[in-house]
Amino acid sequence: MLEPETVELSIQEFTSRGYGAAVIPRPQGRPIDVEIAHTLPGDRVLIEMRRKVRPPRKGRLLEVLRPSTDRVEPRCSHARVCGGCCWQQMDYSAQLREKEERIRRSFSVNPEPIIPCDSPFEYRNKMEFTFSENRAGTKYLGLMIAQAEPYVFNVERCHLCKPWFSSVLNGVRAWWETSGVLAYNPPRDEGTLRYLTLREGIRTGQKMAVLNVSGRAESAPSRAQLDSFVEAVQQAVLGEPISIFLRIHQANKGRPTQFFEMLLAGPDHIIEELHLDGGPLSFKISPISFFQPNTLQAEKLYNAALSYISDYPDPIVYDLYCGTGTLGMAASRKARQVIGIELSPEAVLDAQDNATRNKIDNITFYQGDVGKVLTQLQAESRPRPDIVIVDPPRAGLDPLALHHLKILQPKAILYISCNPLTQVANIGELSGYRLKSLQPVDQFPHTYHIENIAFLER
Ligand SMILES: C[S@@+](CC[C@H](N)C(=O)[O-])C[C@H]1O[C@@H](n2cnc3c(N)ncnc32)[C@H](O)[C@@H]1O
Repeated sequence: MLEPETVELSIQEFTSRGYGAAVIPRPQGRPIDVEIAHTLPGDRVLIEMRRKVRPPRKGRLLEVLRPSTDRVEPRCSHARVCGGCCWQQMDYSAQLREKEERIRRSFSVNPEPIIPCDSPFEYRNKMEFTFSENRAGTKYLGLMIAQAEPYVFNVERCHLCKPWFSSVLNGVRAWWETSGVLAYNPPRDEGTLRYLTLREGIRTGQKMAVLNVSGRAESAPSRAQLDSFVEAVQQAVLGEPISIFLRIHQANKGRPTQFFEMLLAGPDHIIEELHLDGGPLSFKISPISFFQPNTLQAEKLYNAALSYISDYPDPIVYDLYCGTGTLGMAASRKARQVIGIELSPEAVLDAQDNATRNKIDNITFYQGDVGKVLTQLQAESRPRPDIVIVDPPRAGLDPLALHHLKILQPKAILYISCNPLTQVANIGELSGYRLKSLQPVDQFPHTYHIENIAFLER
């Protein structure tokens, strides 16, 4: 076998995924592009080249020879391994600067200063940890290894969530060692344990643990195994109330995957609150509900977004890709009427439930694809919106949704996105609008992800 090649080099920039990027010149042949996790522009490093055919080549950081001026000591002991945080070794103000710069580069316009996280640790209200087992039977419960997905390493303590998440994680790992249950093996479709989801109402302190298992009847966990799992989770939170679920993942070839939930212990949901400028809103969260993963930053994101439209008197608002309707509900306080459109039936059920819980009666939710529902609303001659809020997935707006947005011609568009590239491309297609403001919000410190609000007026 060939000896691994070690190389000394300087990191020049970031890749789009937030890894350090460098070029290795070759006297003969083309220079080699290489990406190295957990490095920063300005670092001089020693790396081991990984033997991979497709570019960019991957390098493994062996030693930082001369640190970038933005380098700091990461809080986390897993920071050199973990695929979750790629920027924990970068000073938080430098992270914010880089995110702002990414927005500036995408739009060729200066954004407002990015809204930072007051506390860049312990901000996540939801984490998913994967069960994985190698051929020798060694068990891993944690997160993916950077640049080596889908390999998993054992997380002892994750600083992106509260300490109880790690206590439960370690308690469940200890339970697993003696439980006799196998990890699910996706290529072979064998085994049981898929992942462990932990959730918290950051504003309420309410806790939830969900054990996600495969739906194969022959690998179903026994009652005794589930009872000992519940005991392990309850011990890990020192007897505090916690809602514990089993979630069965039924994958059938040629048919859509189905999920079944079974309450094992505690209440059947948790409550989260958003403390917004117009007053608090409260939300019921069941194991499958979508909720913005950073509660405190979601409050800032919504407050910032709604401040742009606060001068519109009594508007009709469309909230497209509305999820569980949180943003539409926040907007409903100043609106005559809000229409929310969302593809996921479960999210729409949650949205309707939450509107009732918050005594909001001027919001209506439609389940379906945004483009198709807008076609239907147009055929029914529904009132046109004054303001349209769009918050699509990373892929951005599809052609039918864009077509309708052009026909609807609202006075203002609030485009919220987690992918500035699709956001800028979609906005480029909306003629007749002026981009009035760009407001990035840091929802995910220590990662390269950016949330960005674009406010457009006709
Ligand atoms: C980024 S989330 C927005 C969530 C919501 N605005 C919030 O703040 O909680 C995008 C949402 O779009 C939904 N979605 C994806 N494709 C869709 C489509 N074609 N039509 C309608 N909704 C869609 C997803 O289910 C998801 O809830």
